[in-house]
Amino acid sequence: MYSLLSLTAVSLLLTQTTLAQFDLQSPAFNLELLSEDPTLDGAFLDACHSGAALETLCVLQPGQIAADVPEVFYFNTSSSDDSSDAVTEGLVIYNLIYNDDLIESEPLTVYAELTDTLADQELTPSETGTALAFDDDEFLYIPDYDEVTGAVTSLYNW
Ligand SMILES: *[C@@H]1O[C@H](CO)[C@@H](O)[C@H](O)[C@H]1NC(C)=O
Repeated sequence: MYSLLSLTAVSLLLTQTTLAQFDLQSPAFNLELLSEDPTLDGAFLDACHSGAALETLCVLQPGQIAADVPEVFYFNTSSSDDSSDAVTEGLVIYNLIYNDDLIESEPLTVYAELTDTLADQELTPSETGTALAFDDDEFLYIPDYDEVTGAVTSLYNW
């Protein structure tokens, strides 16, 4: 029952992103993994080419420090977002550079089955992607809305 509700919430959430314009871009930043797996814990993520205008998140060599890792991700939020919202949703963006100086803004889409422990993902040219949020400690999560109560569950593990 719970998983059924959650899955419904995810499709609602994905629909929502098609309505909002995520037009405000943050400065560039790194994404670092926190994992119980010591071979992944503390590793940074990059965007790796996986097809024509298609990238996926990939893991850089463990042990690299933030100062040595190129900051390639951005967070686009909406200028029309009501700042009183508890959650500031946005898209994680990778800027694909092509023809030397043109930029294609590629939002991250996460294909998460909330009943599963694996989530697939891609960065691809689009106006939409998965609505994500950062908490006060700068941890990235998927906000999952309960349709009935409106309560937000923060999904960190995916
Ligand atoms: C993200 O914001 C930048 C700056 O406004 C904009 O050029 C870009 O198109 C936005 N990306 C998406 C996917 O909305």
